[in-house]
Amino acid sequence: MSVNSRIAGVGAYVPPKTLTNHDLESMMETSDEWIVQRTGIKQRHWVENNVGTSDLALEASKEAIADAGLKKEDIDMIIFATLSPDHDFPGSACFLQDKLGLPGIPALDIRQQCSGFLYGLSIADKFIRSGSNKHILLVGAEIHSKGLDRTPRGRAVSVLFGDGAGAVVVSPTEVKDPKKDAHIMTTHLHADGAFAKELWLPGPGNAFDSPDRINQAMLDEGLHYPQMNGKTVFVHAVKRMAETLVHSCKVAGVTLEDVDLFLFHQANLRINDKVGEVLNIPADKVFNTIQNYGNTTAATIPLGMRDAVKAGKLKPGMLVASAAFGSGFTWASGVWRY
Ligand code: ACO
Repeated sequence: MSVNSRIAGVGAYVPPKTLTNHDLESMMETSDEWIVQRTGIKQRHWVENNVGTSDLALEASKEAIADAGLKKEDIDMIIFATLSPDHDFPGSACFLQDKLGLPGIPALDIRQQCSGFLYGLSIADKFIRSGSNKHILLVGAEIHSKGLDRTPRGRAVSVLFGDGAGAVVVSPTEVKDPKKDAHIMTTHLHADGAFAKELWLPGPGNAFDSPDRINQAMLDEGLHYPQMNGKTVFVHAVKRMAETLVHSCKVAGVTLEDVDLFLFHQANLRINDKVGEVLNIPADKVFNTIQNYGNTTAATIPLGMRDAVKAGKLKPGMLVASAAFGSGFTWASGVWRY
């Protein structure tokens, strides 16, 4: 019998400090009403100054490893999805590996932003099914709060993001009954670099006509802050998430009605509501967390998975469908039995 992979454990962590929309009102020109109406976000978590991205990842990882019933020494590969790493290089997976105390195992960073978790899940699934690895730790972690433009220029982006981490352990499994046994059924990955500059963080960078990766003029222009064409992102996100979700279900041999729980990337409640509307998905089958955490990019899906388990909404044997869209543009989907 061929080996499949499954999500064997899940964990998440957000820093204790919470900022409501009203807290943001005192920091930038915005309002609770504007934020809730356009995004659904009510609060987000921000780290203290001395906390880095791999610190958040460490806490989520420990919970995921324990949830899988494993010891940390059982982990034989780390995949770290983030757009807000500890440092430019080396990748945050190396810092996390050191904090976990697991020298020698491969430590891979991936850069697919909001689609990072599903890209990582696809990679982990393929490594496990190839037989080369047994227990892969996949983490999505982000610190956005240290890179937000708090002036009116950046407020449409700055109110969206929060800090947090989510992790899963992906392990081998033999599937006897596909209708009951936990396994990853399919994953699909996409990108279109023609839209790279619709949602991006230009600087520091080497593609400028400049001897320096960053200079004062770039800082004055705010090129070290995220830039987004929100309306373009919205339209493409709805289209691509719906499209890839339907494709994943078809390849997995299930219908949208068969799916017990939809775990979408949490960019904006209105995007997810629209995807649900387009596909006629009942609202109570979509588990959203953006109200509490804002957009935590690569962390949103595992963070939602952990919360869904805690809330009793996700139970062993349930069929899960997931889709994400983000900077790149990248988008991805997957179907698994939990
Ligand atoms: N508070 C108050 N007013 C604001 C704020 C703010 N934080 N930000 C912008 N405004 C004002 C603008 O100045 C503008 O005012 P004006 O009409 O007087 O000129 C008005 O609100 C509308 O500004 P827009 O930039 O056009 O805002 P829009 O209605 O497009 O909403 C938003 C912005 C919420 C980002 C929307 O475009 C959207 O939902 N986009 C989807 C993209 C998204 O959610 N991305 C998340 C990250 S990417 C990802 O994870 C896939």
